[in-house]
Amino acid sequence: MKKFPEGFLWGGATAANQIEGGWNKGGKGWSVSDCARAHFDLDVQNYEGHNHITTKDIEEAMAHPEDIVNYPKRHGSDFYHHYKEDIALMAEMGFKVYRMSIAWSRIFPNGDDEKPNEEGLKFYDDVFDELRKYNIEPLVTMSHYEPPLNLVLNYNGWYSREVISFFERYVETICKRYKEKVKYWLTFNEIDSIIRHPYTTGGLIEDRFEGKNFEEVCYQAMHHQFIASALATKIAHEINPNCKVGCMITKLTYYPYSCKPEDILKSQQYMRNIYAYSDTQVFGEYPAYLLSYYANHNIHIVKEERDDEIMKKYPVDFISFSYYMSSCVAMDDSGFEKAAGNTVMALKNPHLKSSDWGWQIDPLGLRISLVDLYDRYRKPLFIVENGLGAKDIVEDGKIHDQYRIDYYREHFKCMLDAIIEDGVELMGYTSWACIDLISESTKQVSKRYGYIYVDIDDLGQGSYNRIRKDSFYWYKKVIENNSLDFE
Ligand code: BG6
Repeated sequence: MKKFPEGFLWGGATAANQIEGGWNKGGKGWSVSDCARAHFDLDVQNYEGHNHITTKDIEEAMAHPEDIVNYPKRHGSDFYHHYKEDIALMAEMGFKVYRMSIAWSRIFPNGDDEKPNEEGLKFYDDVFDELRKYNIEPLVTMSHYEPPLNLVLNYNGWYSREVISFFERYVETICKRYKEKVKYWLTFNEIDSIIRHPYTTGGLIEDRFEGKNFEEVCYQAMHHQFIASALATKIAHEINPNCKVGCMITKLTYYPYSCKPEDILKSQQYMRNIYAYSDTQVFGEYPAYLLSYYANHNIHIVKEERDDEIMKKYPVDFISFSYYMSSCVAMDDSGFEKAAGNTVMALKNPHLKSSDWGWQIDPLGLRISLVDLYDRYRKPLFIVENGLGAKDIVEDGKIHDQYRIDYYREHFKCMLDAIIEDGVELMGYTSWACIDLISESTKQVSKRYGYIYVDIDDLGQGSYNRIRKDSFYWYKKVIENNSLDFE
């Protein structure tokens, strides 16, 4: 019988900006996600359209605080009021770990406040206590797509160096407050995503940087996040030397379309662009190839003298990542069919099937990713996002999501092979998302990921009741057996 390692951390993942709702409750301030508008008329694969935000869009969003239909993250799945019920359901599945995030603007409503908001701190105390009741370990992302809006409007987001010190204050506050309750932290969710959606990740709005090279702006903001991530690692370790801090990257995977050396080179170039961000956070310095990219593209990063030392001194303890799909690249890609991926478009792989949203399903790509990451870093890995966004149908109050079970089974088999055959050290697995929530790229609820169905539609209409899907019972058995051999 093939088993996962003893103590393997099975669980599920969510993020405050997509699940919590209660966006203006308990003293919470505006965050970038509260102004993220749903574009119901756009093609779901038009990532540019969904993620492009202007100053005018923000003004419009702020002028309509009552509008939760067009700004679905304002209601999320209402975890804010349902957290006890949701955590009980996680416990019923046997979760060992729950990956969640803290909304920065619940703790520091404007980001630059001197004092934290006690009501916000208390909310997460309650959530952590509830988890403890069932022996579920929280794995907490410090920043998952929610810079406080005030930092965008008055500081230009992470482009401003000052934001680092606001973040330090926030990190110190949460690490002290939850010292006894949280031992696993992640600094920035998908730090690399600032390149693909600068507003959501970095609070950067292009029209506020007129006359500047916006790519340079994004890399400058990312530099600030690297420093902030290293300082957060330092702070967390100083407050609790036993805690573990991880980085989090989007593990996109690009295969060469053919065995033409040109295509191999192209995929190598693409993959370096994926590893650049974990290379920086694990080795504590920019890889030479990223520096060459900057030099060749006239990108000048303003650094302070102590930055190199900070990055070197406080690398992360483990590497966490999201993995959903893979795609292909070719040096000359004219005439090839394209396929959507996690906020990217690349070539369609004729050997793979796609999800309802066009993401190409590739379990073996997960094994390949695990091996590549482990060989590169020799540090423990944690899969903190993986799952299938699909259209679920409720029949007689039940959801028969066999497609989701099939997706997970194939990915879990590959995880087992990576652990047993390839010697990869994998700490745990949290599927995205254990409960239906608002999709990041398209702001839809109907792109459902959960083992737990939430009864709302894309307009936020519904009872918000929770229903166990078939995958709920299946995942429960996987965790119970710590293996797939029960079927
Ligand atoms: C990850 C993000 O990249 O992908 C999540 O960290 C996101 O926030 C997830 O929800 C799935 O993407 P989407 O667009 O289907 O929600």
